[in-house]
Amino acid sequence: MEKKRIPLVAGNWKMYKTIAEARQLVPDLVAGLDPIAGVEKAICPPFTALLPVKALLEGSSIHLGAQNMHWEDSGAYTGEISPRMVAELCTYVIIGHSERRAYFGETDETVNKKVKSAYTAGLIPILCVGETLQENEAGKTGEVVERQIKKGLLDVRLTPEKDGSIPLVIAYEPVWAIGTGRAASGEDANTVVSKYIRPSLAQLFGLAVAQSVRVLYGGSVKASNASEFFNQPEIDGALVGGASLKADEFIAIVKYAVLP
Ligand code: PGA
Repeated sequence: MEKKRIPLVAGNWKMYKTIAEARQLVPDLVAGLDPIAGVEKAICPPFTALLPVKALLEGSSIHLGAQNMHWEDSGAYTGEISPRMVAELCTYVIIGHSERRAYFGETDETVNKKVKSAYTAGLIPILCVGETLQENEAGKTGEVVERQIKKGLLDVRLTPEKDGSIPLVIAYEPVWAIGTGRAASGEDANTVVSKYIRPSLAQLFGLAVAQSVRVLYGGSVKASNASEFFNQPEIDGALVGGASLKADEFIAIVKYAVLP
């Protein structure tokens, strides 16, 4: 089946890699990833490593993303990083990752503020949605994902980029699949995207936009299961955690994402 959306594979480093460790990893990533065409690549290191990693990515085809940010431009918010600060360095910003929702009190409302401020700053949000194990077992996956999309994107206006692409990425990450080694099946993930995620996007932005937004799968993606997701018609790449910390593994995943 032909997919018109360019796949994206993004590595979420989480709270791993000092600057020194990042300096060891990134040259291997650049060497392996830069020549791979037909798929967009991004890495999202911790804040402290963004500047040195940006320097190492200079001239390569790999984009940089942040893992979080505050929604205000500036102010007395000790310990926070603003959208304008992130935008000096990055193309993408991950918003509403389930670890932020679970451990740092993020809600659909704060996620919504962050998404809006990402656009004001010129960043492309990677909005994470996904149900917990309990919600999954209670048959609430659709309800949860629809709520996270609709509230997270409330009052957002999407303007297509010059090339016609839509500056929004959704990552469907079932919470029970993150860091557990227990990925969803490709088919189940595809069903969540086709049954709940794209229809919610269509309600908000219309059918054409909903079909242009890239929707990634995340949760225990590795080289050995990546193609199961990339072969699905509604899945346009992956948000990769643990496996993005090893150059060989991440490069192998990205190769599977290249469109035939
Ligand atoms: P994982 O994490 O690949 O380690 O499961 C994915 C994520 O949290 O984005």
